[in-house]
Parts: sequence; C-alpha cells; structure tokens
Amino acid sequence: MSKGVRKRDFPLGNVRRYLEPGPIVLVSSASKGKTNIMTMGWHTMLEFSPSLVGCMISSGNHSHGMIRESRECVINLPTTALTDAVVGIGNSSGADIDKFAQFGLTAEKASKVGAPLIRDCHANFECRIVDDALIARYNFFVFEVVKAHVAPSPKHPQTLHYTGDGVFMVSGKVISRRSKFRPENL
Ligand SMILES: Cc1cc2nc3c(=O)[nH]c(=O)nc-3n(C[C@H](O)[C@H](O)[C@H](O)COP(=O)(O)O)c2cc1C
Repeated sequence: MSKGVRKRDFPLGNVRRYLEPGPIVLVSSASKGKTNIMTMGWHTMLEFSPSLVGCMISSGNHSHGMIRESRECVINLPTTALTDAVVGIGNSSGADIDKFAQFGLTAEKASKVGAPLIRDCHANFECRIVDDALIARYNFFVFEVVKAHVAPSPKHPQTLHYTGDGVFMVSGKVISRRSKFRPENL
C-alpha cells in the first residue's frame, strides 16, 4: 500500500518539465525555395482518425513563418543517435544557416507535402495545417498527418524526452498490460 509521496511547492514556470510528453521531434519545413528544421517538444495527439497533432511553434522561430506560409511540414522522430543534432538544431536559426548542411542530415522528397523528410530519422510524418484558429493567439498549430513513413525496427526506438535545463530522459524499459486493455484503447 502506498504511503503517498511528500511534495514541495514548485515554481509554476517549471511545471512543463513534468508534463512535456515528448518524444522530442524535428520539424522540417520548406518555403520560397529554402528548407529548415526546428526541434520541438510541445506537441500532442488530438485525434486518432483523422490523425491530428497539435503543437506550439513560437512566433520567434524562423520555422513559424515558413510553416504558416506553406501550411505544411514534416514531423520527424529522431533517436538518441541524433542527440547532438537535436540540440544544435534547437539552438540555431534557419534565418542564419542551412541546418541540413550544418548538421549533416539528408533531405528526402516527401510524397504529399513540399517540406522534406529527414532520412536519418526513425519515422517521418507528413503534415498539413487543418486548423489555424489558434495560431495568432497561442502559436498553436493543428496538423493532419497525411502520410507516415516508419522504420520497421527497432519496434521501440530510443527516443529523447526533454526535462528542461539541457537534460533529456531516454525512453527505456518496455512493460505490457495488453491483456487488461479494452480493444478501443489498444
Ligand atoms: C529540446 C528542445 C525543445 C524545443 N521545443 C520547442 C517547442 O516545442 N516549440 C518551439 O517553438 N520551440 C521549441 N524549441 C526551440 C526551437 O527549436 C529553437 O528556437 C530553434 O532555434 C528554432 O529554429 P528556427 O528559428 O530555425 O525555426 C525547442 C528547443 C529544444 C532544444
């Protein structure tokens, strides 16, 4: 029986460290003949089918204007093999550098959107904006995934999960309770 966990008061501005779901993703975009990539942790699934993803892309980011203008992007899933690129991409601006060249990543043509896939990532999700109502107020974009490319193995890739302060957790041990699930929740 749990005896409970003792807590302390906690700064509201750091609550995100516990609620950021991850995994960290790389968002690639294209606009006016240029490509770009940003690192992103603030995203959430909104619907199974159609597959809707909501995310916060700050208006200060170069990617914000590119994605707003083209109305498309690709959400790419990196593994720990790309940790240094994830950090570098999230701490530099596409207004100053070509991030594909700078971080040694390979751009691949997507099938349904103009933005490039990042070939080095475990999975690539081609997205189009389906609702822009919250962009002006919250920088919140609602995307529909229109095409998904996923490596068949490993089944559980080692993904990065940001905990703030420059520190990541890495996805690890897998546990299953499959037999106790309702089918609609599987
Ligand atoms: C681990 C990590 C997570 C980040 N998550 C987000 C995010 O969810 N939304 C956002 O707008 N910026 C996020 N950023 C910041 C952008 O990646 C960063 O501002 C980047 O330089 C933007 O690139 P750009 O100006 O070329 O678009 C994150 C950065 C890091 C390192």
